[in-house]
Amino acid sequence: MSPKNRDYDFIVLGSGIAGLYFSLKAAPQGKVAIITKKHRAESNTNYAQGGIAAVTSQEDSIEKHIQDTCAAGAGLCHPDAVKQILTEGPARIQDLVDLGMEFSEREDLPAGKREWDLGKEGGHSKRRILHAKDITGREVERALLQAIADHPNIDIYENYFAIELITSEKLGLQELNRCHGIYVLDTSQGQVMTFRAKIIIMATGGCGKVYLYTTNPDIATGDGVAMAYRAGVPILNMEFVQFHPTCLYHPKAKTFLITEAVRGEGGIIKSQTGREFMDDYHPLKSLAPRDIVARAIDKEMKREGSEYVHLDITHKSAPFIMNRFPNIYETCLRFGIDITKQPIPIVPAAHYQCGGIQTNTNGETSLTGLFAIGEVACTGLHGANRLASNSLLEALVVAYRAAKRIKTLSIEEPAPNLPPWEDGDVIDPDELVVIAHNWDEIRRVMWDYVGIVRTQKRLERAQKRILNLQSEIHDYYPNFQVTPDLLEIRNLATVADLIINASLTRPESRGLHYTLDHPNQDPTWATRDTILIKDQSPGFLIT
Ligand code: FAD
Ligand code: SIN
Repeated sequence: MSPKNRDYDFIVLGSGIAGLYFSLKAAPQGKVAIITKKHRAESNTNYAQGGIAAVTSQEDSIEKHIQDTCAAGAGLCHPDAVKQILTEGPARIQDLVDLGMEFSEREDLPAGKREWDLGKEGGHSKRRILHAKDITGREVERALLQAIADHPNIDIYENYFAIELITSEKLGLQELNRCHGIYVLDTSQGQVMTFRAKIIIMATGGCGKVYLYTTNPDIATGDGVAMAYRAGVPILNMEFVQFHPTCLYHPKAKTFLITEAVRGEGGIIKSQTGREFMDDYHPLKSLAPRDIVARAIDKEMKREGSEYVHLDITHKSAPFIMNRFPNIYETCLRFGIDITKQPIPIVPAAHYQCGGIQTNTNGETSLTGLFAIGEVACTGLHGANRLASNSLLEALVVAYRAAKRIKTLSIEEPAPNLPPWEDGDVIDPDELVVIAHNWDEIRRVMWDYVGIVRTQKRLERAQKRILNLQSEIHDYYPNFQVTPDLLEIRNLATVADLIINASLTRPESRGLHYTLDHPNQDPTWATRDTILIKDQSPGFLIT
């Protein structure tokens, strides 16, 4: 075999919660390659704070979790997916604990008695968020990476960037279209390798970096959605981008989330003048679902001409705050904010992609041999707005189900000889500036015109700009040796285009998609998912 070729049973793209958990569960069935574009722990998962929502208390019920999920989802959740995922959640939590995950326990119980310390977040009617203080994601990555360390059937390729799926169509094979493998850039060597497998699992996470302000780390550039779209796989509901209401506002803080759990423990959103304005917007006030809180903050900031609002938890005791939110306390202190004494300056920022690659709850896509799990996928759980802390849960349940499903499949061997990648060979340093410029322009256009509050005119303006950028990228892409920056900007432009197109397709406001031209829900759209397929007009699917 050429040193540029690799053969595996399963190729997993991404080492967040979805990719790692799937790999562990699939490894007894075959050789797994995990391909990840940076360090193995670098992922959205690693920054998750609030926790994982699941029913583990006697005072709670699956039925209540279902109701809360569907209420947040503004009528668009797929009931079967919701029921299946939430019902299987508690078993996956137990499995995570058995694998070594350490969730926080209550500290106020008599000696010998043990219970999870369940947190509360927006839209939840009960305390049901399992967490590890305020660094849940870091603990998830630690536990899963430890569990797969030295596993004889799992190889991890760090700093390997997945570029493009290799399908029958691309190979010109006369057969039902399927996945045969993937081209991957080894970024340290600057060479493109060919990975071949019967099954590819897309677990590449979300696309927060398509917006100027985001809670997401740099890896979140929508690569998986863009790759799947280019391969002809349907993409659902991309208009539903979740903006988290409380991202730290500080000139030196690039992205730092202040978890919703702060509000769950009594934190109050206030204007800079101290007005508790959420009272005017929702009976749950500061703990209303995220779409409502983010929009209210946006409106108040515009009304007052202010650059941020406040989140105030100073009425709780300092020891409580420092013990429950140690990471937030220390990080804010480094920026000169003592959250036990001062309100925290906050702004909304792009946080989560509710839409994505269309899958069922086994992670299966319409393309044989391609699965998608985690944030990159759209199972129908989140509808028009994700309920807080349902994302890590969905990733666990669907990853597990996908690993179970592949046991039952008999997919033929992929084509024996996959052609090598053909690289452009021109790098003109004068042109590199175009990448940096386009990167900034995409993110600013999306923030200004496709943000929390939209209009038809703004969307159309954004569409024109993104189309121009796409054609520029299209022109120089074939001439360049691929680099991560070039690949990411191409993917970001594709994802931006998908978000705009999906938004233009939905003529109503629902959940996270709010447009001043149609400020109300249209009942006929209550059962319609937007669907985008390459080379076809945007449309909708009746759910
Ligand atoms: P990720 O964890 O994002 O992993 C994606 C992986 O794919 C990464 O390893 C990345 O490097 C890799 N990758 C991407 N593109 C490529 C490519 N082209 N080639 C190779 N590798 C690639 N959700 C909750 O439920 N509870 C929370 O408390 C919570 N808090 C959050 C806090 C923050 C700050 C953020 C940003 C998100 C939070 N979320 C939370 C959302 C949740 O963390 C994510 O939805 C979830 O972690 C996604 O997991 P994933 O495995 O699908 O993707
Ligand atoms: C948070 O901790 O506020 C984020 C939770 C989530 O995104 O589900």
